[in-house]
Amino acid sequence: MGKVGFGVAVGCAVVTCAIAAVLLGRRVQSRRKWRRAVEMLQEFEEGCATSIGRLRQVVDAMAVEMHAGLASDGGSKLRMLLTFVDNLPDGVLRVQLGGRGSMILSHQVKHHPIPQELMSGTSEDLFDFIARTLKQFVEQEDDGSEQKVDEKKELGFTFSFPVRQMSVSSGILVKWTKGFSVEDAVGKDVARCLEEAMTKAGLNMQVAALVDDIVGTLALCHYYDKDTVAAVVIGTGTNACYVERTDAIIKCQGLLTSSGGTVVNMEWGNFWSSHLPRTSYDIALDDESPNSNDQGFEKMISGMYLGDIARRVLYRMAQEADIFGDDAYNLSIQFIFRTPLMAAMHEDESPDLREVRRILTENLLLPHVSLKVRRLIVRVCDIVTRRAARLAAAGIVGILKKIGRDGSGGVASGRTKGTPRRTVVAIEGGLYAHYSMFREYLNEAVVEILGEEVAQNVVLRVSEDGSGIGAALLAAAYSSN
Ligand code: BGC
Repeated sequence: MGKVGFGVAVGCAVVTCAIAAVLLGRRVQSRRKWRRAVEMLQEFEEGCATSIGRLRQVVDAMAVEMHAGLASDGGSKLRMLLTFVDNLPDGVLRVQLGGRGSMILSHQVKHHPIPQELMSGTSEDLFDFIARTLKQFVEQEDDGSEQKVDEKKELGFTFSFPVRQMSVSSGILVKWTKGFSVEDAVGKDVARCLEEAMTKAGLNMQVAALVDDIVGTLALCHYYDKDTVAAVVIGTGTNACYVERTDAIIKCQGLLTSSGGTVVNMEWGNFWSSHLPRTSYDIALDDESPNSNDQGFEKMISGMYLGDIARRVLYRMAQEADIFGDDAYNLSIQFIFRTPLMAAMHEDESPDLREVRRILTENLLLPHVSLKVRRLIVRVCDIVTRRAARLAAAGIVGILKKIGRDGSGGVASGRTKGTPRRTVVAIEGGLYAHYSMFREYLNEAVVEILGEEVAQNVVLRVSEDGSGIGAALLAAAYSSN
C-alpha cells in the first residue's frame, strides 16, 4: 500500500511539475510575442517619423517639383495640369447666378455612389450611368420656371481624375486613380463621352466647364473669400490646386492668353520625393495596387489607403507576434479596415476602449482582443494618421513657399519679403472635415513649419460639398449663353 501511495504521490508531483512547466513556457512565449509586437510597433513608428527637419525637406521638394512640373510635361511626377480657368467666379457672377441677390440662392445635392462593377467596366457603361442619374436628378429638381424646356442647359462636370485639358470644357483622361480602371476611357475626352451619353439619355445639355473636384473647391472658396489662393482635397483621394502667374507656366508659353493668373491642377497625389518616410507596408500596398508606382503621396495620406496601411501592420503583427490568436483571417483581406473605422477607433476616448472592441467584433470578427492589444491598435492608427496629416501639412507649406506666401520670399520666384498678406487655403474632404485628430495634427504641423508669426496669416478653411457647387459656378462663368 505504502509503495503504491508513494508511487501515486510521485506521479502527482510529476504531473504538477509538467503543468507548471507548460504554463511557464506559455507565459515566456506570450511575453516573447508581446515583446515582438512592441518591437514591430517601434520599428513602424521610426519608419513613419516626420521630424521637423524631414518635413522641411518635403516642403522644399514640393516647391522644387512644382517648378519642374511647370517647366515641361513629364519634368516631374507632379503633373501641374493646366485648367484653363483664369477667371475665378466673382461678384459679377453672383448677380447672374442669384438673379436677384448676391448669394448662391440654393443648391440641391444628391449622392449616387458609382456601383463597384462600373469602376472597372467600359467607358460607355460608366458614362451612361452618370447620364441616367443626372437625368433623374434634373427631372426631380427641375421646376421648369427659369429656363425654356427646349433650351440647352450648361453643365459643370466635376471629374476627379487627372485630365489633360484642351480647353475649359474639354480634356483627355491621363490615368485612373482611386481604384478605378475603366481602361478604354484613358486617352478619351471625358466631356465628349458624357455629352454622347447625355444625348442617348435624351438630355439636352452640354459641358460648359470640365473641372477637377479640387478646382471646383477653389472656385467656391474664392467666391466667398478673395484671399483664397489654393485648395487641397484630402478625402478618398488627394489633390491640390492654386493660382499661378501665367508667365511662370513655362511649358505653356504662348498657349495661354490671360496675362494674370491661371489655376494649376497639381495632381499632387502623384508627388514623390525620397524624403517621404516610406515603410515596407507602403511598398507592399503600392505593389498590390492597380496603379503601382503612381500616386505615391496619395497612398500615404488619403482616406482610401490609411486604413489599409494600419491593417497591414496589424496583420503582420498577427502573423509574427500572434496578437490575435487564431482569429486573424479577416485582417488578410485588403481594404476591409476602412479609414472611417480607423478614425472611430483612434478617437475612442472610453477608458476600456469600447468602440475599438465593438469595431473589432463587428467589422473584423475579432471578439476577444484584450485591452492591452486594443491600446496597441490605437497606437498604430495614431502613427498612420499623424504621418499622413503632417505630410499633407508639408505639402501645403510647399505650395505657399512656391507662391511666396510662406514668409521666406519663395523659391526662385523673385518675390521679396513684404508685408504679410492674409492667405486662405480651402480644404475639402472627409479626412480634414470629420477626423478631428487628423485635422489637429495637420494644423499643428503647419504652425510648426511656418512658425507662429507667419502662420497667423494663413487660414485653413474647411469647405464642404464645394467641388460640385464650384463646378456649377465655373459652368456659369464660362457659359456660352
Ligand atoms: C485624383 C485627383 C482628385 C483627387 C481627389 C485623385 O486621385 O487624381 O484628380 O482631385 O483624387 O478627389
